[in-house]
Amino acid sequence: MSFNGELFLLMVHLNTNNALFSLRMKKNENEIKKIKKPWATKKVMKQVYEMNLWGTHNAEFYSGDGSHLPEIVRPYLATVSSFLRSFKKPITVCDLGCGDFNVGKELVKHTCQYFAVDIVPELIAHLQLTCKDEKLKFLCLDISTDDLPTGECVILRQVLQHLSNIEVHHILNKLKDFKFIILTEHLPNGSFTPNKNILSGQGIRIKKQSGIKIIAPPFNFQVKEEKQLLSYTLSENKGIIVTTLYTVF
Ligand SMILES: C[S@@+](CC[C@H](N)C(=O)[O-])C[C@H]1O[C@@H](n2cnc3c(N)ncnc32)[C@H](O)[C@@H]1O
Repeated sequence: MSFNGELFLLMVHLNTNNALFSLRMKKNENEIKKIKKPWATKKVMKQVYEMNLWGTHNAEFYSGDGSHLPEIVRPYLATVSSFLRSFKKPITVCDLGCGDFNVGKELVKHTCQYFAVDIVPELIAHLQLTCKDEKLKFLCLDISTDDLPTGECVILRQVLQHLSNIEVHHILNKLKDFKFIILTEHLPNGSFTPNKNILSGQGIRIKKQSGIKIIAPPFNFQVKEEKQLLSYTLSENKGIIVTTLYTVF
């Protein structure tokens, strides 16, 4: 066989191998996609608490250091309490994704009524037994699929960051009737592309150098005013926890 003939056969062999390799890769990707089918959010959040994936500190339910570290929680409580106290007539608050309620329990006294909502039934049952106040009502709901209680102000503290864009979209559609939204999100340091999609409960957008910004695409949530209330910069470039007050109408 001539040199050109051998070269031709070699090229055919390499191309066939490349095609087989691409086919195999495609098959693997499809298999991974099948494996990565998202769990229902309720199942994920139940497991987070059962397996203490956000820490434990010997508590039955622990919503993570962001709900407990005094340097994060104290300034938040001071700012949000002062906002709630600024109303002559106390307002009704819906705390969506209330978690272990270490934060929310300090806000109840500044409201007319406080709905504390979470998706994990065992957590809500525990809070109903251990945290009582006549103004306080615990509800076990999936805030992306169930109807929400009504009120003037929504608190969403480090909840949307865990959810997929489609769930965030469903939740935002229900927030148009609330005059105020106090939103806390864990964002990357520096500039970032907002709202990259994630699977619910499988880490937050920081891993994609992204974070939630509700007034940016694809959500484009309409507000009258946006005001950053406070921020806390985490060490080691781990991001920044930002609380924003949105006045919706
Ligand atoms: C990181 S914790 C934050 C808890 C609390 N907001 C705080 O800052 O201390 C997030 C909470 O949101 C709840 N959650 C997540 N998705 C939810 C959904 N679709 N409906 C209701 N609660 C949800 C979780 O179960 C969890 O308790």
